[in-house]
Amino acid sequence: MAQQFEDSFQRKFYYLRLSITDVCNFRCTYCLPDGYHPEQGKKPSFLTLDEIRRVTRAFADCGTTKVRLTGGEPSLRRDFTDIIHTVASQPGIEKVATTTNGYRMAKHVHEWRDAGLTQINVSVDSLDPRQFHQITGENLFHTVMAGIDTAFDAGFAQIKVNTVLLKGMNAEQLPQFLAWIKDRPIQLRFIELMQTGEMDDLFQRCHVSGVSIRNTLMANGWLLRSKGLNDGPAQVFYHPDYLGEIGLIMPYEKGFCSTCNRLRVSARGKLHLCLFGEHGVELRDLLTHDHQREALITRIRGGLTEKSVSHDLLEGNTGMTPHLASIGG
Ligand code: 5AD
Ligand code: SF4
Repeated sequence: MAQQFEDSFQRKFYYLRLSITDVCNFRCTYCLPDGYHPEQGKKPSFLTLDEIRRVTRAFADCGTTKVRLTGGEPSLRRDFTDIIHTVASQPGIEKVATTTNGYRMAKHVHEWRDAGLTQINVSVDSLDPRQFHQITGENLFHTVMAGIDTAFDAGFAQIKVNTVLLKGMNAEQLPQFLAWIKDRPIQLRFIELMQTGEMDDLFQRCHVSGVSIRNTLMANGWLLRSKGLNDGPAQVFYHPDYLGEIGLIMPYEKGFCSTCNRLRVSARGKLHLCLFGEHGVELRDLLTHDHQREALITRIRGGLTEKSVSHDLLEGNTGMTPHLASIGG
């Protein structure tokens, strides 16, 4: 193995989030309220299967053990199953995860599992079908629920569910969410709404901290789980009476970035050091041939020296990220 990727703050990177498309078929209020539109006059050109293989290989060579396929909606790519297989086949990659809106899950999750997918995160912003429709722009609550059931059938031992906390909508529904995970091995993760460039007043209206949920959980016998090496930033709580777990992702809390273990590559082949970074490092010209791997690794390593210690979200700095679909959540 080449030397492990590490930044100037001794954070090591075991985990790559690889976006494979910007396209999404949902219109979540906090992400793509008007749906996905390609940039004016440009036909989107996302990483090809070969480019995905090369970039994954370079990261795996430098100590990355886990890759998450994101988007947009990754499963909208027709070669999604091949992508899973290719990523899972790179030496050193132990885990292949995806974050999906669940739209194609009921139909394809068996195939994905056979191709080597080890973990699924699916977005469910409400357990009320009407509110789900309101938040996501699509009346597909039951489709997504059927997808989750099918994923359990396909053999996933635990499924992670992402719920973006929205004041006045789902933030008041903790009891319903808890009832749902009582007998299901679901890790339900409440994510605080993050402000992105294209958001109007949604953030002012709907942002709510996860602290009150944390207080409620702790007052009711939930316990904080300790973290593994390539776990994400969630604080995970468990309870002896529940099969499911609750995660809290609170990017506005002090110290959130200190355990950062992830890097991002966009669907157009740029390395992003942080979700809210100002710029990306172009990698695509070094993804054309296998023999460019050394040069690719050198460029990534050079980029890492620029990674800053923390995002400036509290200063209202949203970087250049218009919405999370453009960089892969
Ligand atoms: N704030 C918090 N979470 C977001 N996501 C997308 N946009 C935002 C935002 N502005 C989450 C979605 C999805 C994951 C890809 O990112 O819920 O689960
Ligand atoms: Fe890491 Fe940036 Fe996320 Fe902070 S905001 S945890 S630095 S990716």
